[in-house]
Amino acid sequence: VVVVVVVVVTAVVLSNRTDTFKATFIQECERRTPENTSTDCVEVWSAFEQAYVGRDPCQVPPEAYDHLLSVAPPQPACNRMLFWSGTKEVAHQVSEGCYQTMEDSMLGSVLDGMTWCGKEGSNETFTSGCPGWTECVNNPVRSFWSRASAEFAAVACGDAVVLLNGSRDTPFSPTSIFGSIEVKKFTSDRMKSLTAVLVTKDNVLANCEDESLKNLQKELKPGIKYICKEVPESELLTCKKDHDQTCVPCW
Ligand code: APR
Repeated sequence: VVVVVVVVVTAVVLSNRTDTFKATFIQECERRTPENTSTDCVEVWSAFEQAYVGRDPCQVPPEAYDHLLSVAPPQPACNRMLFWSGTKEVAHQVSEGCYQTMEDSMLGSVLDGMTWCGKEGSNETFTSGCPGWTECVNNPVRSFWSRASAEFAAVACGDAVVLLNGSRDTPFSPTSIFGSIEVKKFTSDRMKSLTAVLVTKDNVLANCEDESLKNLQKELKPGIKYICKEVPESELLTCKKDHDQTCVPCW
């Protein structure tokens, strides 16, 4: 009897987990999707779970999300695209209401901060006990952000911005998502310029002459203009507060 109860309770808890995650996903998708578009959030969910359900959570490559990205592609906002690396918090403070980050896209906003994975022989979605970011490269969460970021960068257009961390030794890290994926996806027929804003806190460890930024410049396709600016974080935040309504650039 005890065994049966344990099995039943476990099954209920597990299926609730899938149900909660699924319900949140669909609810957020619907909240984020304008009514006049053809996006069907149940279809988006199916495309999403098809990427990892029933698979070994260390064997979900970025391509597993190809179908998802074709069902729910990120919409570009020319001249208002904002990328970031090592500056997540300030990037979202500054972009709010004015610029578009990956996390402002429908999929990005639904999945930001979430953890998920599947398991071989199961049709469930698990939200705990999943591999961490560096535990194995092809984990469902990391592969999603790699694949979705590639798409987000590929559609970037006009004058784009990246906020880099000037309080780090290497503001442009070639192993970050920005350095290893997004930069390589920028195309010169769509993108006019990239402004790298080196955001510094009290400890300034890098300036625009930094060696790592030379690598960033080298990665950009000819035809994409490169601009670099050094801006203290406090200045960015004050400027944002003062110009919240008008969205004037703070760099
Ligand atoms: N361990 C755990 N989490 C990590 C790790 C790691 N080693 N590396 C990256 N992450 C996750 C974290 O959630 C972190 O907040 O990725 C996030 C971003 O990492 P950063 O190194 O700060 O930046 P980057 O890898 O360049 O990714 C940001 O990717 O999603 C796009 O458009 C977005 O331009 C942005 C870029």
